[in-house]
Amino acid sequence: MRVLVIGGGGREHAIVWKIVQSSRVTNIFCAPGNPGIATLAECVPIQADNIQDLLSFAQDQAIDLTIVGPEAPLADGIADHFRQARLRIFGPGRMAARIETSKVFAKDLMRRSGIPTPSAETFTNVIRAQEYLRRHNMPVVIKADGLAQGKGVVVATTLAEAQKAVTDLLEQNVLGASGATIMIEEFVAGDELSVMALTDGNTVVPLLASRDYKRIFDNDQGPNTGGMGSFAPVDSVDTALMNRILNEILQPIVDALSSLGSPYRGVLYAGIMLASDGPKVLECNARFGDPETQVVLSLLKTDLVDLLGAVVDHQLDALSPIEWHEGAAVCVVLASGNYPSRPNVGKIIHGVAKAENIDDVNVFHAGTKIGDMGLMTAGGRVLGVTATSTDHRGARAKAYEAVAHIIFDDMQYRRDICHKGVET
Ligand code: GLY
Repeated sequence: MRVLVIGGGGREHAIVWKIVQSSRVTNIFCAPGNPGIATLAECVPIQADNIQDLLSFAQDQAIDLTIVGPEAPLADGIADHFRQARLRIFGPGRMAARIETSKVFAKDLMRRSGIPTPSAETFTNVIRAQEYLRRHNMPVVIKADGLAQGKGVVVATTLAEAQKAVTDLLEQNVLGASGATIMIEEFVAGDELSVMALTDGNTVVPLLASRDYKRIFDNDQGPNTGGMGSFAPVDSVDTALMNRILNEILQPIVDALSSLGSPYRGVLYAGIMLASDGPKVLECNARFGDPETQVVLSLLKTDLVDLLGAVVDHQLDALSPIEWHEGAAVCVVLASGNYPSRPNVGKIIHGVAKAENIDDVNVFHAGTKIGDMGLMTAGGRVLGVTATSTDHRGARAKAYEAVAHIIFDDMQYRRDICHKGVET
C-alpha cells in the first residue's frame, strides 16, 4: 500500500511512526511533514490546507489510503473532494466535521440527542453577552464557535476575566470570524478525559482513554494551550464507564450525524469531564487529539492501517477486538518560550539523539525545522517526548529522564504530567 499522511505536527509524526510498522505498507508520504517525520517517510512540500495539490498528488502517486491529521483541511471538505475522486481517505466530510468546526452546532446536536453536556447560551452581540455575564456566577467558560487552534476557550474565574474574553472575541475580533459567535458555558468541575473512537458512521470502536494537560503551567495554571502533555491509559476508566461513554455519548453523536445525512467516517474525539453526576462532553473534535495520539498509538499493538482501512471501507463491524500493549505511556511536550502567545522560535535544539537513545522513548517532532545550525524550533509546541513502560510511574520517569537531555533557549514544559498520585 501507498499511504499519504496529511499534516506536520507531533500527532502526524506518531501516526507515521505507527504506520511504518505495518507490513502492508510499501511507501509512506507525508505532506508537509517535519524533520522528525522525514526520518520515516518521504515528505512532500504541499501544505495541509492545499486540497487541490494534495488531490493531484494522491492521484499521480496512486495513493491507496490518505489519513488527515489536522482539522483545517477537514473543515474545508478535503474528505468530500477525495471521495468524489474515488480516493480512499480517513476523515469526515465537511458537514460531519461541523462537530468540531462549530461549537454551537455540536452543542445543539448534543442537546437534541440527550447527550450529557454542560448548559450554554450563544451570543453574537457583545452587550447581550455582558448582560448575561452579570447575572451569572463565576467561573464560566467562554468558547469561540469556530476553529481557533487551541485559543478559543477561556475558563474565566472572575467577572472581569469573563468580560475581557467576551470583548476580545465579539468586539476586538481577536479570532476573526471564528469568534464572531460565542458560547458562554456552565463550568463543570472534575477530571478531564479524552476518548477517541473510530467510526464508519454505524459502528463505533473506542480507543484507550487518555488524559491531556491543557494549561501551560503546572497545577493547571495559566492559559489554555493545544496540550502540554498526556498519558494513557486512565485507570479510573473501567469497562463500565467506557460502555457508558460509548452508549450515552459516542454512539448517539454518530447516530445523530447520520440521521442529519452527514455520516461520520474517521476518528471522533470527545473531550469529557468526569463530573460528580457522570461524564459530560466539553468538546468534540473531528480528528485525532494532539498530544493524545502520541500516547495512545504508543500502546497500540494492532496494525493501524487495518483499523483505518476498516473505517474507510465501512467494515468496522467485522473488526477483531483491538489489541493493546500492557503498561502505560506518557508524553511531555517541550514548548517554545512565550507559547501559547507568539512563540520565540528559531532556537537551536540540542540533545534529541541522546533522548531517543533511551529504550522505549520516542521524540515526536511538532514545531521543528532544519536550519543553518541543524535542528531548530519553528513553532509553539516543539517536541513531544514520549515513553512507555510497564506502569505510569515508569513511563513518567523515563519521559522526564529523556526530557533532561534536551535543551533549547526559553524551553518550557510542565513538570507534573502524569504526576505521582494520579496513576500508579
Ligand atoms: N489535545 C487537544 C486536542 O487535540 O484538541
